[in-house]
Amino acid sequence: TLGWGHQKGGLRFTPVAPNSADALTVADGYASSVVVRWGDPVLPDAPAFDFDHQTAAAQAKQFGYNCDYVTFFPLGRDRGLLWVNHEYTDENLMFRGWTSGDTVPLEQVKIGMAAHGGSVVEIERAGWSGEWKLVTRGRRRYNRRVTAQTPMRFSGPATGSALLKTAADPRGTTVFGTLNNCGGGTTPWNTVLTGEENWNQYFVGGNGVPDAQKPYLTRYGISTTTAIPSGNRRFDRVEERFDLAKHPQEINRFGWVVEVDPFDPDSTPIKRTALGRFAHEAATTTLTRDRRVAVYMGDDGRFEYIYKFVSKDRYIPGFDRHNRGLLDEGTLYVAIFTGDSPATEIDGTGKLPADGAFDGTGKWVPLVSGSRSFVDGMTAQEVLVYTRIAADKVGATKMDRPEDIERNPVNGNIYAALTNNSNRAVANADEANPRASNRHGHILEIAEDGNDAGATVFRWALPLVCGDPNDPSTYFAGFDKTQVSPISCPDNVTFDREGNLWIATDGNALGKNDGLFAMPLSGPDRGHVRQFLTVPYGAETCGPLITPDQLSVFVAVQHPGEITGATPDNPASHWPDGGTGQPRPSVAVAWHKQGKKIGS
Ligand code: FEO
Ligand code: CA
Ligand code: CA
Ligand code: CA
Repeated sequence: TLGWGHQKGGLRFTPVAPNSADALTVADGYASSVVVRWGDPVLPDAPAFDFDHQTAAAQAKQFGYNCDYVTFFPLGRDRGLLWVNHEYTDENLMFRGWTSGDTVPLEQVKIGMAAHGGSVVEIERAGWSGEWKLVTRGRRRYNRRVTAQTPMRFSGPATGSALLKTAADPRGTTVFGTLNNCGGGTTPWNTVLTGEENWNQYFVGGNGVPDAQKPYLTRYGISTTTAIPSGNRRFDRVEERFDLAKHPQEINRFGWVVEVDPFDPDSTPIKRTALGRFAHEAATTTLTRDRRVAVYMGDDGRFEYIYKFVSKDRYIPGFDRHNRGLLDEGTLYVAIFTGDSPATEIDGTGKLPADGAFDGTGKWVPLVSGSRSFVDGMTAQEVLVYTRIAADKVGATKMDRPEDIERNPVNGNIYAALTNNSNRAVANADEANPRASNRHGHILEIAEDGNDAGATVFRWALPLVCGDPNDPSTYFAGFDKTQVSPISCPDNVTFDREGNLWIATDGNALGKNDGLFAMPLSGPDRGHVRQFLTVPYGAETCGPLITPDQLSVFVAVQHPGEITGATPDNPASHWPDGGTGQPRPSVAVAWHKQGKKIGS
């Protein structure tokens, strides 16, 4: 349409100034409202939220804590389904007088378990605009809670592996629950993929596993020296399986991408083992040139890797039974990035490429395909369960915490958020991860060979190196730095229909609230970063999703008021209820007051 996309990538809004307000602040001309809060009824028979009298039975029917990935399935023009991840819990903000998982009443531990997982909720348009609200009456046939205890099954080549067998599941085929669901994705057959990220924190007893298993625990960040890491939620007090000394393999049953069918509340979620096991941030699907399914995935840890799965068979529109097997057979790859110019050290802060551009070439190295391993000394099932170790062995490129990855619907390139890496030294900075003590993160752009998601080689560049634009180590794709918004710690990304990149931040190291930013990727405004909204004090911005009609943008406001020392008797945020209300992680929606497209 005329005028859209031809000026500033169609983006015309005035940026929101950095702030520390306990409010969701949107750009001028826009409005926002809260769609669904922690504790709101999800199942029709759920009780109303009662902060001081919460129970596990109530929580299992109510919206969970710390909403993260958000995705939307339209049901006609004015109704839709939201899937929302519930990444983790802040017990110190959920319960008065909470001290430690070691000693709190078991009911509180159970509430925490029920507040994990994900939710499906029906929403409806409010009036004519881009505002949406929770459906609170009637049957709500799709509404569902998935928790740390929901029955699930394994699928794909590691199913039935000796590494997945436990006393409760001697066949290695079924598992209860999903944990630390961070980013996600959707499939062309309208299901959700949800990534299990920091699942390592839920177990105790790592010192009690057989010695041969300990290096694998260590590689995945699980302590093998202390019996009970401090801050552990002590799920083992409710279910013994979380004690590794008694059930050493239970941990191998977490760390997967889980597929959930939001249109069938009775369906059993599936852990897709062909996609490997690591700290899954997200799982973005797209089709290759020959219509196979590619899944891009980040492993969010310092010096971890970027992965891609490509299915063996093609996607066939409408052939559901066939399509639903596609993620079980295919090849898992890991990325190697090579710079194209000698890098010169700058002031002990990192490296600047001699040709002025952070860019180069790369390749996808196969790790495993079905029962065939490409990694010396590891079986296919070992590669799938201990994927990080397989990627170490092939010399994959160690990145600055790979977070969300998405494909641009206009130019076909792949964009990854690398959120930060406090541990990188000048000595191991490279052109793809150019900064030492990388506090502010950067954005990576991958152009697959032939614009084919099935390619095994690519070119790459960094269009954005984040931070205060006055910091000489920042780079805004060459755009005038006096015109851009400061941005720090990119985490979740999405696109509008014009191919502008929308970036949500987590942990703004510039000292202000997190927020949502937009950046054109083509034309003279490439690199013109502008802040669209800020989230309340202590929160991070997750989810971001622009609806297909471009009229609404959803954001998950995760952990408002999560500040050191904050408690329910001394809350750092009262969002969203205001007054003396406790902070409640919530999904919000923003829209243009005159019904224009998001970004206008
Ligand atoms: Fe859960 Fe990597 O953010
Ligand atoms: Ca270069
Ligand atoms: Ca994230
Ligand atoms: Ca995050």
